[in-house]
Parts: sequence; structure tokens; C-alpha cells
Amino acid sequence: MYIFKAGVIGAGTMGAEIAQVISYSGLPVVLKDVDQAMLERGLTRIRDIYQRRVDKGKMSAGEMENRLALIEPTLAYDSLSDADLVIEAVPERMDLKKRIFAELDAVCPETTIFASNTSALSISEMGAATKRPAKMIGMHFFNPAHVMKLMEVIPGLDTAQETVDDVVSFAESLRKIPVVVQECPGFLVNRLLMPYLNEATFCLQEGAADAQTIDRALTEFGMPMGPFTLMDMLGIDVCGDVGLYLYSEYGERMAPAGLFHKLIAANRLGEKAGAGFYGYGNESDEPVKAMIAEMQHTNGVRTNTPFCVERLVYPLINEAALCRQERIAGIADIDMAMVAGTGMTWHGERMGPLALADHLGLDTVLAGLEEYQSAAWGGERFRPARLLKLKVRAGHLGRKVGKGFHEYTG
Ligand code: 3HC
Repeated sequence: MYIFKAGVIGAGTMGAEIAQVISYSGLPVVLKDVDQAMLERGLTRIRDIYQRRVDKGKMSAGEMENRLALIEPTLAYDSLSDADLVIEAVPERMDLKKRIFAELDAVCPETTIFASNTSALSISEMGAATKRPAKMIGMHFFNPAHVMKLMEVIPGLDTAQETVDDVVSFAESLRKIPVVVQECPGFLVNRLLMPYLNEATFCLQEGAADAQTIDRALTEFGMPMGPFTLMDMLGIDVCGDVGLYLYSEYGERMAPAGLFHKLIAANRLGEKAGAGFYGYGNESDEPVKAMIAEMQHTNGVRTNTPFCVERLVYPLINEAALCRQERIAGIADIDMAMVAGTGMTWHGERMGPLALADHLGLDTVLAGLEEYQSAAWGGERFRPARLLKLKVRAGHLGRKVGKGFHEYTG
């Protein structure tokens, strides 16, 4: 089915950026919110993105106006009655999402595809709450949505193959890279990213290194931005919610660092709030240092644990191995998703976590995980994936022997 008209529910940062991406591809898109002020903020965000393209000489002012004219802002559902696809991008509350899909069920034809931009919640559960579970799917964009190339496409248990095919073609028409991911909490990229971001936060709260040092080490390693800059961009509340959800689903290996809770309680929600791990404008990061000192003195948080990039990167690689073990996605797709979704590189080359493990040596990664698992400050967060152990036992050690997660010739 070709998508002639799309809708986006929720004009927050993500919803607005998704509407911009759709309009940029030349398709009409309805942007719906319940709040006029929110709608206007969303439209301003879209105009700003286009304006930057005009300023960079990549688009004429006339073209910008033509694309902007494709966006129909509204507070009502009426304009969605002929939409072929509607993407929900509202806050991460299952009850809210279910209510929106029930309202959409009443106005949209039965052929309309319902998609959710949820970062982690169950697509199958949302589908079951609609009259069209075969037409329900996850379409997960990455932040900033107008820049990042990846779109995770997540079928639920009852999603029809036709719906998957339609959404994959639609993603390509938006010039995104679709990667089909089996449903699991956090899907693929957030599931891999969270242990890495969480470990950075453990390092910080345990005084292993300060935020600037950790950020610098990870950008030197090959990440486009350090973990704290990234979390401040994503929102500490978003990271905290995803972290708690993954903890509730996966247990101890995803136990979140206590500092998330402290930052959220202090309303340091990241760049959007003017303060997160770092301070922006007139704010500084001194209050975070004070929080850490207090946690170390009164909450029994460990101090002076070691910092090295491997402490952050190995859990990410390990989670990638677990995803492969559970057949959440293929090896090439896991690597592609991390490259297109987070901009991972190594030594100047775009490289996903499984290829990276091959380069580092699977035996080296396994030995590191085992060492951290047995350390007093480590534990379950580092328990090695069975698949990683199996590969090392079988001698699939990576690039140096021509075979690891990938195979190498020459
Ligand atoms: N917030 C919002 N937009 C930002 C930003 C920020 N902090 N930093 C940069 N951008 C935008 C810029 O405005 C620019 O937009 P434009 O093309 O409209 O002018 C665009 O990104 C490119 O910026 P730059 O030219 O400055 O390019 P950089 O080389 O600095 O790259 C980046 C910026 C693309 C954000 C790069 O640092 C990157 O890839 N970072 C990693 C981002 C990432 O990992 N995202 C995925 C997070 S997980 C997620 O989103 C899932 C969700 O469910 C939580």
C-alpha cells in the first residue's frame, strides 16, 4: 500500500521532527496535539529546521514554504479520516497511547496503519487494544529525528507482514534506513545504549572520573558525542524512564545508577531544562558534584572505582551479543542499527558493536567482562552472554582468526 497522507499525534520535539521528515519527503502530514501552545512550539521547531537548511544554502525560501504548506496543524481528529498511516509520538504512558489509538480507531478507515514511536513499550500490547492489531507497528525514530538515519521497525505478535513491508518502503521513501527488530523491551538500540549510558553514570557517581573526562574519552574512542552530552540531549527523564523499564523487564543487569533519580528530583532534566549532567546558560554542574558527594557520604555509594572506556563499551557489546542470541535482529542489522542510530565509529571507520568485538578480539572482550563481573564494584551488569562464551570456546575469536560474529577473508 502506498502512503499518500500521514498523520503524527503529539507536537513535542519528536513529533515535530517526524512531521518535518515526512513533509521534507513531499508528503502531506497532519500534526495533531491537544494543546495549541504545544502545536505552535512544534511548528516553530519545524520552521527552524527548514530555516537552517535555507541558511546553509541547501534549500530555497520558496521550497521551504512549499514543504511547510504540506503540514496541517490541528487540535481535532477530523483531518486524519483519510490518512494512510498515523504515527503516535506522545509521552511514554501505555494508558495514554491506548486511549489515542482507540480514538483513532473511531475516525480512521480500517486500512490505516497505526504506528508508535515508543522507545521501549510493547507494540503487541498496543495492537491488542485496537480493532486492527494486524495494522499496528513500531516506527522508532532516533534523536535528532531529522538527522539520524535509522528507523527501527518493530512488528508486534499480530502485525501482518504486509504492514511491515509497507512501513519499510515508507521509511525508505523518507530516506531513512529501516531495520526490522523483533519486539523486546527497549527494542535494539535503546537496549544496547542503556547499559552503556548507565555505566557512564555509575562511573560518575563513584568518582571514577568526571563527566568531561568520560565524555572526552568516549568521543576519542569513536562516539559522536559523549554519554553525558547525549543524555542531556535525550532528556534525563527519558533516560530515567527507559532505564527503569528495562530494569523491571531484564532485572539486575540493568539496575539503574542512583544519580538518575537525584537529577530528576532536582529537575535537572537535560538541555531542555537548562541543566542536566552539565549546566547550560547561567547554570553550572556544581550541584551535580554536590549530589555525588552526598551520595558517596550518606547513600553508601562506592568511591574511586576505575574508569576506562571498556567499562562502558563492553556492556554494550555484551547486550548486542544477547540480542543476537535471542534473534532480535541479524548480525549485520545489529551493527547497521547502531551505526545509523548512534553514529558509532572506531578508528575513523563506521563500526557497530559486533564488528567492534571482532576487531578487539572476542576473547579480550570476554576476559574484560569476566574481570568486571568479579570485581567488588561490578557484578551482574557484566555477566557475559552465553553466545560470547560459546564463540570463544569454538575459537571464533574475531578478525585475527578470520571468524567472530562476522567472517573475514584476507
Ligand atoms: N539537540 C538537537 N539537535 C541537535 C543537537 C542537540 N543537542 N546537536 C546537534 N543537533 C542537530 C543540529 O541542529 C543540526 O541540525 P540541522 O541539520 O538542522 O542544522 C544537526 O543535528 C547536525 O548537527 P551538526 O551539524 O552540529 O553536526 P554534528 O557533527 O555535531 O552532529 C549529531 C550532531 C548528529 C547529534 C551527532 O553528535 C550524533 O550523531 N550524536 C549521537 C546521537 C544519538 O546517539 N542519537 C540516538 C540516541 S537514542 C534515541 O534517540 C532513542 C530514543 O528513544 C531515546
